[in-house]
Amino acid sequence: MNQSDAPSKPWSGRFAESTDAMVERFTASVDFDQRLARYDIRGSIAHARMLAKTGVLTKAERDAIVSGLEAIGAEIEAGTFVWSEALEDVHMNIEAALSRRIGEVGKKLHTARSRNDQVATDVRLLVRDEIDVIEGMIRVLKSTILDKAEQEADTIMPGLTHLQTAQPVTFGHHLMAWFEMLDRDSGRLADCRMRMNQSPLGAAALAGTGFPVDRDFTAKTLGFDAACENSIDAVSDRDFLIELLSALAMLMMHLSRISEELILWSSAQFQLIALSDAYCTGSSIMPQKKNPDVPELVRGKSGRVYGHLLSLLVLMKAQPLAYNRDNQEDKLPLFDAVDTVKDCLRVYAGMLPAISVDRAAMRAAALKGYATATDLADYLVRKGIPFRDAHDVVGRAVKLAVEARCDLADLSLDQLKSFCNRIEKDVYPVLTLEGAVAARDHFGGTAPSQVRAAIKRARARLGG
Ligand code: ARG
Repeated sequence: MNQSDAPSKPWSGRFAESTDAMVERFTASVDFDQRLARYDIRGSIAHARMLAKTGVLTKAERDAIVSGLEAIGAEIEAGTFVWSEALEDVHMNIEAALSRRIGEVGKKLHTARSRNDQVATDVRLLVRDEIDVIEGMIRVLKSTILDKAEQEADTIMPGLTHLQTAQPVTFGHHLMAWFEMLDRDSGRLADCRMRMNQSPLGAAALAGTGFPVDRDFTAKTLGFDAACENSIDAVSDRDFLIELLSALAMLMMHLSRISEELILWSSAQFQLIALSDAYCTGSSIMPQKKNPDVPELVRGKSGRVYGHLLSLLVLMKAQPLAYNRDNQEDKLPLFDAVDTVKDCLRVYAGMLPAISVDRAAMRAAALKGYATATDLADYLVRKGIPFRDAHDVVGRAVKLAVEARCDLADLSLDQLKSFCNRIEKDVYPVLTLEGAVAARDHFGGTAPSQVRAAIKRARARLGG
């Protein structure tokens, strides 16, 4: 909208000249902050009710404002509301529409309020809803993982460190590691929600207001736990967004690590799992290709969310108290981070249950790389040999097996005895994959019985 047909601005009284057209575009945020509309209306309704309660507005004025705001809200939901760039942001668009609709009384809504406490309130309300949605989605993913872990509690796979065969583990145990990672992500979001759930309303521009306000009333009406303690802090800090984005960045870090594993495991070199066709794409040149684009994109999108976290940290770092217009720039990183995370969680909720596991291939992979070498060393320790010496004995046995291109369990008793004469026939069950996982039979260990117990505890946590 250009200057000539621009509606006059709520703040134009002090100005002699109209805003430069470029500046109007440069300062406007309505393009993107209209996403706050429903929260802005909810906040305004709570504010109007509070003003009536403290006698600043009459009941009739309150009712006119509330029904006007509700009608505007319906228009916005229906997509028929006309947004004006000249009115800068979501707040002034809605306020101007209210006055157009209900006349003079609409202009009373902004009593005892500033856009500074208004926007801080809107953003907190949005963040709270988004946290609830994201937590719900993580929950779905966690329960998918529990189901899969249950199915794979006995499945043996190679456990890796340095991407080299380390010790056999059960796939169910590995999946439960994912569960724990995501469970902490839920916890971080819950922490963030708890700290941010306070109402800025009543802080006004920064110093509070001379009108009688009932800050507890607006806080309670909007579902906040309390009113923010300090008016200057209430309008100025966006640390809760930084906290949210840190939690989301960490969640994306976890999804990225899980993605990396899916990508590796589904490759021709690992071949431990197959992703469903619905979650892969082909190559325009290589007919044989089935590419794991979905986990690759999740891995890639983690960088995007980290970037948004950094944007907010930098946005905040040099701002003097209290509100500065810089804060208008908090919204795009926030919205995009939240949308990206939700997309990734949505796609994961479909992709994970559709993974097919090649149990035979997992077992075969675990047989490569001397995964039970530690078990042989532990066996020797049980026969009275100090662990360091046992380590050396087994190292030499592995060297022989590497040369002979066979597994430790394929070495004859005589061959094994040549390294240590305390080795007896009872060593062979120790060298099996099943023996190795079953031996790790303690809280948090990989034995199938422990995995089942962990799943049971996790289900109880999830249910609570
Ligand atoms: N659009 C602004 C924002 O997002 C609203 C607050 C403006 N306040 C002000 N004093 N200019 O932060």
